Amino acid sequence: VFEISSLEEEARARLDPVRFAYVSLAAGDSVTSNLAAWQDLRLRPRMLRDVRTVSTATNLLGRPCKSPILVAPTAMHRLAWEEGELATARGAAKAGAIYVVSAQATTSIEDIAEEAPTGPRWMQAYMMRDRGLTRAMLERAAAVGCAAVVLTVDSPGFPHKRTAGRRPLNENFRLPNLLPDDEAPDVEEMVPNYAADLTFDDLADIRAWTGLPLAVKGVLQGADAARCIDAGADAVVVSNHGGRLVPDCIATATALAEVVESVAGRGEVYVDGGIRSGADVLKALAVGARAVMVGRPVWWGLAAGGDEGVFAVLDTLRAELERTMALCGVSAVGDIANDLVCSARRRSIT
Ligand SMILES: Cc1cc2nc3c(=O)[nH]c(=O)nc-3n(C[C@H](O)[C@H](O)[C@H](O)COP(=O)(O)O)c2cc1C
Repeated sequence: VFEISSLEEEARARLDPVRFAYVSLAAGDSVTSNLAAWQDLRLRPRMLRDVRTVSTATNLLGRPCKSPILVAPTAMHRLAWEEGELATARGAAKAGAIYVVSAQATTSIEDIAEEAPTGPRWMQAYMMRDRGLTRAMLERAAAVGCAAVVLTVDSPGFPHKRTAGRRPLNENFRLPNLLPDDEAPDVEEMVPNYAADLTFDDLADIRAWTGLPLAVKGVLQGADAARCIDAGADAVVVSNHGGRLVPDCIATATALAEVVESVAGRGEVYVDGGIRSGADVLKALAVGARAVMVGRPVWWGLAAGGDEGVFAVLDTLRAELERTMALCGVSAVGDIANDLVCSARRRSIT
């Protein structure tokens, strides 16, 4: 049986320690807290249901897809595997999973589209101080068939303190979706170039740049989520960036219920952070998410085995979801509801 947990060790063994440290990066205990919050939720299986056929198929932003498990946008896949995002794209396409391409991909969105023409794809963006860079990138993504924009809003630009003696991740990479091809990225200089003045008022304009559905990623408060939808977003992603940014951050499993309640069906809600099993996916959907995104496990799979590793992670999670649905008396994603989950401490989360 393929174990997602063993993949982290496989990636650790294969990667240069500096690269492994990059993917593992955490703010305080926010990563462990994400993991623990899913563990604190418990499934309440339904019995005596007809589960001869179980399907993980669903609809996201108006389009059908094979499963509610998406590849979260993660930067610089060439750090994990020589072919980088090309391998990720093949693995995700084989699994039929939506691949959210990072703004900091080390492969151009045009090359990714050519490599996996049938793979469903969304494009992630940060708002750069030079807003034209973000706009140009999103227009390119739309031109090659990306079906949605994911705007990450949890990383406002702030002055960076150079860490003395820190080794660069790799000087040879390019970020060809964001910077001109001949410009080598200075990873330490990226964050100061993100806009610090992005607000809800910008969302309608950003959506209008491409006309594609817009998901706002990095929302943790219900009121913020409602304001995103009011401002024209089609979806929000409850995310604390995999626990990488804010120390002592609220776990995403904890933040999810309030966001679902505030959005009240006016938009789609996704969640990421610490999703490591099909049971976690079922819990997220039972609390009210429409889909989940998976970050580090896909990165570990890529580091361990390129496209095959990415496929294995996504296919294993989907198969685990299918089996857990059957065991919980659920045959379709649309039948997943709040009764299926409770706190480990209380009978029901409501
Ligand atoms: C190595 C790494 C790079 C990431 N790069 C990006 C990025 O470029 N854009 C973005 O929106 N989120 C980025 N994230 C955050 C992920 O999209 C996602 O929110 C997070 O990984 C989910 O948590 P998980 O790793 O526990 O699944 C990154 C995360 C990791 C681990």
